[in-house]
Amino acid sequence: MEKNLLNQYGPWAMIAGGSEGIGFSYAKLLAAAGINLILLARREGPLQTAKQKLLDQYDVKIDIHCIDLTTPLLDQLLDDMISEREIGLFIYNAGAAQGTEIFHDAPVASALRLVDLNCRGPLVFCHKLGGLMRERGKGGIILMSSLAGLTGAGYVAAYSATKAFDIALAEGLWSELKPYGVDVLSLIAGFTDTPAMEASGTAFDRDGPNPPMHPDEVADEGLAQLGKTPVWVVGKTNREFTPFLRSQDRVQTIDLMTAGAAAMNNDPFPIEPT
Ligand SMILES: NC(=O)c1ccc[n+]([C@@H]2O[C@H](COP(=O)([O-])OP(=O)(O)OC[C@H]3O[C@@H](n4cnc5c(N)ncnc54)[C@H](OP(=O)(O)O)[C@@H]3O)[C@@H](O)[C@H]2O)c1
Repeated sequence: MEKNLLNQYGPWAMIAGGSEGIGFSYAKLLAAAGINLILLARREGPLQTAKQKLLDQYDVKIDIHCIDLTTPLLDQLLDDMISEREIGLFIYNAGAAQGTEIFHDAPVASALRLVDLNCRGPLVFCHKLGGLMRERGKGGIILMSSLAGLTGAGYVAAYSATKAFDIALAEGLWSELKPYGVDVLSLIAGFTDTPAMEASGTAFDRDGPNPPMHPDEVADEGLAQLGKTPVWVVGKTNREFTPFLRSQDRVQTIDLMTAGAAAMNNDPFPIEPT
C-alpha cells in the first residue's frame, strides 16, 4: 500500500466490530502499518484470539473491549474507551443482519436493533471521534455499508434502510470534514466470506461463478480508497452491478434484489402471504 497509514491515521485506530471478518482484516493491515488498535465486539473469546494473533505478528499495542454496540450507554462507554488515546482512524464495521426476515413477521425490536447498530452507533461514534479529529485537523473514518443500501428489497427492508443511512451519513460528513483534513469513506461491500455471513444461514457457493469476496480484499480496497473518494463499491463485479441498483426502473431492481435475498436463505419468492 503506497500511502503512509501511520502518519495519516495513527497512532491509534478504533474498529467497532474488529474481532472477526472484515473488521479483523482491517486490524491486520493497520497493525502491519504500525498503528495501535482498540478492537470492540460482544464476545470476549474471538476478541482475545484476535488480539493474540496480532501481538504474535506485529509490534503494536492492542486494547480490547467487550461491548454491544446497540447499548443506550454507548456515549459514556466511548469516553472511557478513548481515555487519553489519540484515535486517528475510526472504522464502524459491525452491522450485518442476522439472516433475512419479513418485516411484519418479526417483532419491531428486530428492526430497531438494526437501527441502533447501523444508525445510532455510527452517529454516536462519528460525533465524538470525528469531532476530535476535526480539532486535530487530521484523521479518517470508514463506515461499512452494503450493496443492499443502494436499493430497498423484500426480506431485508430494515437492513437496507439502515445501510442507506450509513452511505448518506458518510457522504455528508465527507463534505463537512474534508476542509479540516479528515477523510471519510462509505465502503459498500457485496457478498463477503465472513463468519457472520456463514452464521446467518446464507447459502454459500465459494466455487460458483460469483464467489463471495475475501474479507482481506475488502479491507485492503477500503484503506486504499480512504481519502480518494466519499463512496467506494468494493470488487469489480460489485461495481459492474451498481448502475442496475441505481437505475430508475425501481420495480425491476427491487424485484431482483428481493429474489436474491430470498434465495440466500431459501425463502419463497414471490413473497407468499403467511
Ligand atoms: N459479509 C457480507 O457479505 C457483507 C455484505 C455487505 C456488507 N457487509 C457489511 O460489512 C460489515 C461487516 O460484516 P461481517 O459480515 O463481517 O459481519 P458483522 O457481524 O457485521 O461484523 C463482525 C464483527 O462485528 C462484531 N459485532 C457484530 N455485532 C455487534 C454488536 N452488536 N456489538 C458489537 N460488536 C458486534 C462481531 O463480533 P461479536 O459477534 O463478538 O460481537 C465481529 O467482530 C457490516 O457492516 C455489513 O453490513 C457485509
